[in-house]
Amino acid sequence: MTGTAAKQHFALFARHPHLAYLDNAASTQTPQAVVGAMASYYTGYRANIHRGVYELSALATGRYENARGALARFINASADEIIFTSGTTAGLNWLALRLTQKFTSRDNVVLTRLEHHANLVPWQQAAKERGFSLRFVELTPGYEIDLASARTLIDENTKVVGFALVSNTLGTISPARELIALAHERGALTIVDAAQAAAHLPLDVRDLEADFVAFSGHKMYGPTGSGVLFGRREHLRRLEPLFYGGEMVSHVTYETAEWAGIPERFEAGTPAIAEAIGLGAAAEFITGLDLAAIRAHETRLTEYALEKVGKEVKIIGPADISRRTGVVSFVIKGAHPHDIADILDKHGVVVRAGHHCTMPLMRYLGLTGATRASLGVYSTAEDIDRLVEGVRYAKKVLCA
Ligand code: ALA
Repeated sequence: MTGTAAKQHFALFARHPHLAYLDNAASTQTPQAVVGAMASYYTGYRANIHRGVYELSALATGRYENARGALARFINASADEIIFTSGTTAGLNWLALRLTQKFTSRDNVVLTRLEHHANLVPWQQAAKERGFSLRFVELTPGYEIDLASARTLIDENTKVVGFALVSNTLGTISPARELIALAHERGALTIVDAAQAAAHLPLDVRDLEADFVAFSGHKMYGPTGSGVLFGRREHLRRLEPLFYGGEMVSHVTYETAEWAGIPERFEAGTPAIAEAIGLGAAAEFITGLDLAAIRAHETRLTEYALEKVGKEVKIIGPADISRRTGVVSFVIKGAHPHDIADILDKHGVVVRAGHHCTMPLMRYLGLTGATRASLGVYSTAEDIDRLVEGVRYAKKVLCA
């Protein structure tokens, strides 16, 4: 169920029937299944988890752990490899802090030129503290990851290779298998930022052979402030928690403490219980709609958008439909992206404008910003037609 049929699951579209919501790369809408799952926690069985011996707490604990199971099935992991986080940013920050503790000036971390600030700034900060260097895989003129560049940069001193599976700015799908194979050949760990992939492409961490994968709930029809960090069990066993406190310990004295098992030791304090339950419902919602069908729908619409919008503007992203998702960024010569977005908003078309949290990428591409339309399961050809009309009008007003 995609397009108009999928809209029925989202109360927002009943209230805003004429809204062309094309900012799904920033945040997706929330289906009733997710709202309902969170509401039933608050109205039916709210209690803290893993602590109470009473029935309500046991029920809440059961639902929270069921959600973990749903996320594990969603990416083909084991439940003990799923850590609930507040989002992709939290997962990536933790990895940049903890994985690099013993790195020296001989070591390097390889990222790509298209990383979101969340997979760049934490590594920059760690590099400043520990003295290791950062390297960036170049892009091809077609806005794709240049594997030849990756081959020259990833060497025996590379400790981590981290990359976005899908670029939030370009829509580029990274050659994940090739990057992961190159990294593993050199003994490096791999970190996949799957924030822009989770709701759009089938994600199988075993098949990918990734060591760590991070993604956010609010970009996959789930609640804000929720997310997942997947880590292979053998790596999680070796990693130090980021936060210390209640529930992440098995035994504590005034002098010292021992950690609880995995993944509990990585979830100190009372977690975002309703959000985790909502995220589990979001994973089931996507699986129920079928990710392969979602991908096929979004691919058809992206093709349509590239053809129609591409006649009016310069598209900033890959032309090859098999190498990209429905993130369609563009520039209009002589028009500021914010002005374009403002005019589109007045036409009932919601897009994002600016640097998209990828300032270095913008500079690398010689741009100050771009306007970005991004698709979701409920996007329709009518939404694209409205975007095209709005863009034509913006050109008339701004470039006259
Ligand atoms: N990372 C989100 C985006 O690309 C916020 O818009």
